[in-house]
Amino acid sequence: MLNSKNYIALGLMSGTSADGVDVGMLVTNGKSKIELGPSGYYPFSKSFITKIKSIFKKKLNINKSKKQKRIIEIENEFTQFNFVAINQFLKKNKINKKKIHVIGFHGQTISHNPASGYSWQIGNSQNLANLLNIKVVGNFRENDIKKGGQGAPLTPIFHYYLTKEIKKKICFINLGGISNITYFNHESESSLNNMLAFDAGPCCSLIDDWVSKNSNKKFDNFGLLARKGNVKKKIIQNFLKKPFFSKPPPKSLDRSYFSLSLLKKLKIEDGAATLSYFVVDTLLKSFDYFPKNPDLCILSGGGRLNKFLVELINKKIKKSKIVLTENYNWNGDSIESYAFAYLSIRKLLNLPITFPKTTGIKKPSTGGQIFNFI
Ligand SMILES: Nc1ncnc2c1ncn2[C@@H]1O[C@H](COP(=O)(O)OP(=O)(O)O)[C@@H](O)[C@H]1O
Ligand SMILES: [Mg+2]
Repeated sequence: MLNSKNYIALGLMSGTSADGVDVGMLVTNGKSKIELGPSGYYPFSKSFITKIKSIFKKKLNINKSKKQKRIIEIENEFTQFNFVAINQFLKKNKINKKKIHVIGFHGQTISHNPASGYSWQIGNSQNLANLLNIKVVGNFRENDIKKGGQGAPLTPIFHYYLTKEIKKKICFINLGGISNITYFNHESESSLNNMLAFDAGPCCSLIDDWVSKNSNKKFDNFGLLARKGNVKKKIIQNFLKKPFFSKPPPKSLDRSYFSLSLLKKLKIEDGAATLSYFVVDTLLKSFDYFPKNPDLCILSGGGRLNKFLVELINKKIKKSKIVLTENYNWNGDSIESYAFAYLSIRKLLNLPITFPKTTGIKKPSTGGQIFNFI
């Protein structure tokens, strides 16, 4: 039967937190059959994080920037990092690379600006394919943006099929650098076109920036700093006045949209507490856009390890049951990398990855570009 074949794919994800690369392997038919395989995490060094963050830009001239020597150098280093990560992953899990049909390579976003017609991920897919002798799918956001979509979020279709057997109204919240939400109703046979998704607001990226600016730590481990701090409600009110929050979906966020200047000279603990409350307020605000209250919220992404943040979510989102992906034995650090493995197979099968209510694209559309090794 057409498309009933199973494929093995690897996904490489490095999100807006710029903390490192997640690798995930799965077997799928590109539709409802999904078997999650091993996954791994390869953190960037502190100096590489600083390097990557130095080229984040709210807005840039893409044609000019693509020729900039410094960016090209960082891109090459980043591609090499992904190559090494894959080799380590294959070795550790004793996987023969000939078995892998394709690699979904997200790349590192340095500027996301759909209103100006671009979302730029560094990472050279052609070089990666040549280095590995494996087909790579990259450039996942371009087609959607060209057709008028936000180019984000892209993972909803994966969230949808991953949870297909849980017959509930579900809200899947990925607590990454930016938090993104997918809402769907598996209770009734809802169509993919009813799936709703959008970026809710900043998450780990802002907390990380604050913590690393004021200490030698990379992030607020388990939320221990925030737990000791006092919340400055006025600052949250000012953050929430930004036009992004009154805009209905579809919408997506660039990690450079928010600045820490509002926090001024707060104590590190107070800043962490204020940002954590702000993150949860943005999640709560997102519930206004759902057609019905979800029965279940599933949390994935590094932010789910911030215990203080998860406690706050439980405290403030009372009408839904809150669980972590681990509740279903899915490694919450790897969901996004599995998603890009899945999306790469959907590209090979020419199946849609973005939808009117996920990115605002007019018609469901496929996305990604295939790079065969040479
Ligand atoms: N133990 C922890 N306590 C608190 N936060 C954590 C912990 N582990 C990871 N994180 C947060 O998760 C972030 C990484 O999450 P991730 O899902 O990889 O985001 P992204 O997709 O943006 O890279 C880290 O930058 C950090 O803020
Ligand atoms: Mg990450």
